[in-house]
Amino acid sequence: MYPIWVVPYLSSALVIGLIASFHILPSHLAVGAFWFNIYIERKAYREGRPELLSFIKRYTLLILIFCFVFGSLSGVGIWYSATVSSPRGISALIHNYVWGWATEWVFFFIEVATIYAYYYTLGKVDERTHLRLGYLYALSAWISMIIITGILGFMLTPGKWLETGGFFDGFFNPTYWPQLGARTFFMFGIAGLYALIIAATLKEREVAREVARLAGAWGLGGLLLGGLCGYWWLKKLPSEAQDLLFGGTLPYLAILLKVAAICGGIVGLYFLVFGLALPRLNNVPLAILTLMVLFLGILSGEGIREGLRRPYVINGFMYAHQVVGADLPAKGIKSEIEPLNEKGYLARLGYLPPNLRTITEKNRVMVGRILVAHECANCHALSPKGLRSLPRLLEGLGMEDPEDLAGFLEGLDGYSFMPPFVGTEEERLAAGAYLSTLVKKNP
Ligand code: HEC
Repeated sequence: MYPIWVVPYLSSALVIGLIASFHILPSHLAVGAFWFNIYIERKAYREGRPELLSFIKRYTLLILIFCFVFGSLSGVGIWYSATVSSPRGISALIHNYVWGWATEWVFFFIEVATIYAYYYTLGKVDERTHLRLGYLYALSAWISMIIITGILGFMLTPGKWLETGGFFDGFFNPTYWPQLGARTFFMFGIAGLYALIIAATLKEREVAREVARLAGAWGLGGLLLGGLCGYWWLKKLPSEAQDLLFGGTLPYLAILLKVAAICGGIVGLYFLVFGLALPRLNNVPLAILTLMVLFLGILSGEGIREGLRRPYVINGFMYAHQVVGADLPAKGIKSEIEPLNEKGYLARLGYLPPNLRTITEKNRVMVGRILVAHECANCHALSPKGLRSLPRLLEGLGMEDPEDLAGFLEGLDGYSFMPPFVGTEEERLAAGAYLSTLVKKNP
């Protein structure tokens, strides 16, 4: 086991979630926008209307700066936060998909190179060559999505991989196609909204109106088809995930689904009214406000996707607290639950100083805190305020006695969304002793 990252108030999982949700705005724009760009560029050449190119110049500059500065930085942010909050989870992913990521990196590299070429050669090379650069970008960007979606979907529904350990068994998993469809269409929605923002800044009113109308159509179409694929995705979820979402086990997930649907509706309305129907009313402040609504929708959608995996980080294989919970004979991996329950969790924490490796009367609460940090802090704040605050939840249950709390830990996996507490009985008592200090007013 690696050291653990405890984030006050937020929990480490939420830090990844916030960075990753923001990352969707630039990343999906980067993938979706160029199809719209090419469409407008072809139109400009076909109809002999060079004034349309003024939109392309601005739109590409937005992609270049927003996606390749903020997108790249937040991409690194996801890696960094995921690595420190769940090093074993990332390690398991890398052991399976390092070549997937390597392939994606190659296409990302092509993206970076071609967007500069595309931007700086606009109007300077012949039309066909310039369009080809656009296609090269659009295709390689989409291929990077095709690859990443396989790895993302794998974590929620590893499918046959759980038996075979095979690369493609996990990659083309049960939710792969619906998720790829949803992302592909939603990216047109995201690209459409940014195109509306850029259109509102154009001086040529005629061009602004025409682009707004087209962006509205692309955006609305993308949103509707993406919503359809989203529905297909929900249908493909395993029954435990369906229970969490629709069965009322975790009511907040159903609320997030409603929020996502309402946000989608508001963005759709913007496309309909300010894009298709009355493009002359399209304006920057309102379009940016709608972008914020879109962001809220994305945040909710991602919250659902991540939340449905509970209590696992890789469904059916590795728990959220990074303990392997099932045998995977194909790869010679065994469940760690029993060995940890017998030999103890502390024995696996190589970074601990000697005085914390065995539990004594003096260090019990301190060691308990370490165990709770490892096994609970991914999802719970340890402070009285914050996300799923443990003190608050424990108070709600009305438990404060160390033994009672240790007993509660023994039955933790009775909750379908929490992993079992692993460790020896002595460790469980230590964790109970620490939890008791969280609830007792005068410990
Ligand atoms: C995979 C994420 C995850 C992990 C790890 C986790 N929990 Fe939870 N826990 C949840 C969620 C989600 C809830 C529901 C919260 C809510 O209802 O607001 C919850 C609820 C609870 C509750 C309230 C239960 C009730 O019936 O009201 C307690 C107490 C609790 N957790 C304690 C713990 C402890 C102690 C640990 C570590 C040993 C732990 N949890 C580990 C996700 C987790």
